[in-house]
Amino acid sequence: ADRQAADLIIFGGTGDLSMRKLLPALYHCDRDGRLADETRIIAMSRGGLGDSDFRGKVDAEVRPALGDPEGWDRFARRLHHVSIDIGGPAAPAGWDALAALLAGHEDRDRIFYLASPPMTFGPFCHGAQEAGLVTPRSRVVLEKPLGRDLASAQAINDEVGAIFEERQIFRIDHYLGKETVQNLLVLRFANAFLEPIWNSLWIDHVQITASETVGTPGRRGYYDHAGALRDMVQNHLLNLLCLVAMEPPAHNDREAVRDEKVKVLQALRPIVGSEVDRFTVRGQYTEGTTATAAGDVTVPGYLDEPDSTRPTPASQRVETFAAVRAEVKNWRWAGVPFYLRTGKRLPTRRSEIVVQFKEVPHAIFPGAAPNRLVLRLQPSEGIELCLMAKEPGAGDVTLRPVPLSLSFAETFQSRVPDAYERLLMDVLSGNPTLFMRRDEVEAAWRWIDPIIAHWDGSAMLPEPYPAGTAGPAGAHELLARSDRTWHEEA
Ligand code: BG6
Repeated sequence: ADRQAADLIIFGGTGDLSMRKLLPALYHCDRDGRLADETRIIAMSRGGLGDSDFRGKVDAEVRPALGDPEGWDRFARRLHHVSIDIGGPAAPAGWDALAALLAGHEDRDRIFYLASPPMTFGPFCHGAQEAGLVTPRSRVVLEKPLGRDLASAQAINDEVGAIFEERQIFRIDHYLGKETVQNLLVLRFANAFLEPIWNSLWIDHVQITASETVGTPGRRGYYDHAGALRDMVQNHLLNLLCLVAMEPPAHNDREAVRDEKVKVLQALRPIVGSEVDRFTVRGQYTEGTTATAAGDVTVPGYLDEPDSTRPTPASQRVETFAAVRAEVKNWRWAGVPFYLRTGKRLPTRRSEIVVQFKEVPHAIFPGAAPNRLVLRLQPSEGIELCLMAKEPGAGDVTLRPVPLSLSFAETFQSRVPDAYERLLMDVLSGNPTLFMRRDEVEAAWRWIDPIIAHWDGSAMLPEPYPAGTAGPAGAHELLARSDRTWHEEA
């Protein structure tokens, strides 16, 4: 099905996401023979570019990162550009140009990929509708963030929902396209040994970490209004939590999987009022030293990041680090904390899910540490199960934790595709399983909103942490209070 001709229209087509992720992903899909010959990629932006200018730009900015890409010319021929300023007085001309390009191709799948800020989603869909471009075979892809709280997310969902049916709306969360994330479901539901112990009887707690070394240079306009909770926790980390915690669905299909995920979100124990101070931590990086390929470098704090927008008093309140102790209040998980953590300018780029098992019920060997299952999303995707083993030797029994590990790259000897490749192919073939349904996004905001409300009303600022360190002390304390530690501290 993914070889049917399609027109893929990327709004925000010359932006960062498009140039860094979407176009490289589409190139790889093309090289792997997954795009039909006639499929076109139509970028829309305010840029005033013609097709050949745009092809030149992609050649200069995207191609070098791909090495010496085989079949590049074929890919480049798919590229088109339409200039539009959807809010501006000349908007109709842009829509006319797009209409002219699409005329006669109403029988193709038509994908509108909105790689633009959420306030443009409604106006874009409205404009496309007015221009008569929304066909029954159209789909729309919405990039995150979907709003900045429940009310704004609902408003966007209403506006888009007035023009597209829910089955046509694909809300993307690229974490769901990552190989390890999809493997988590296979690990859980295609193996027999884990599921019987996947519950509060055997699991002590779960840690989900997305640690980044990058800062936010040039992103103030966005990040000042977002912060780590909205940027990473509301979507990526909660999605991972759902996949760890959900019940086995009856089928691997679009509604069954999403039905189970939304039940997890609905079971999250609300964190409200003064509990927010107890169960959450926020931090903001200050100047510090970070390791790069070229050695240690000193980097500025959040407030001094180079940017075209100057920091405002509100910038001081923005969290670049967030940690939350969540709880899923249901039979399987009662009493098992899910610790979520993410931050910019941390010492390493590492995303992982750690499932920490309980101690053995009765220890006959001294020194046994509880088992741990680590699902690594990046940098090198893999799965590691930490077991206790006996050190060789004739003396006393000495235990040592040893990893049973699976590296996807080594085991499968194939290129691990980028999350966007998988997700773009799913959009083209019309499979929404790995996309967020309206009720999921809204349930996630419902849980996030009271945390942000409490932070906003608090006199306290995020705890400072120097760039290159493991985040604020509060994050350590969040676990230390119950005698636990974050994985890398262990
Ligand atoms: C994006 C966030 O959604 O995810 C960024 O807006 C973040 O702030 C990025 O850097 C992380 O994605 P990945 O795939 O590099 O972990």
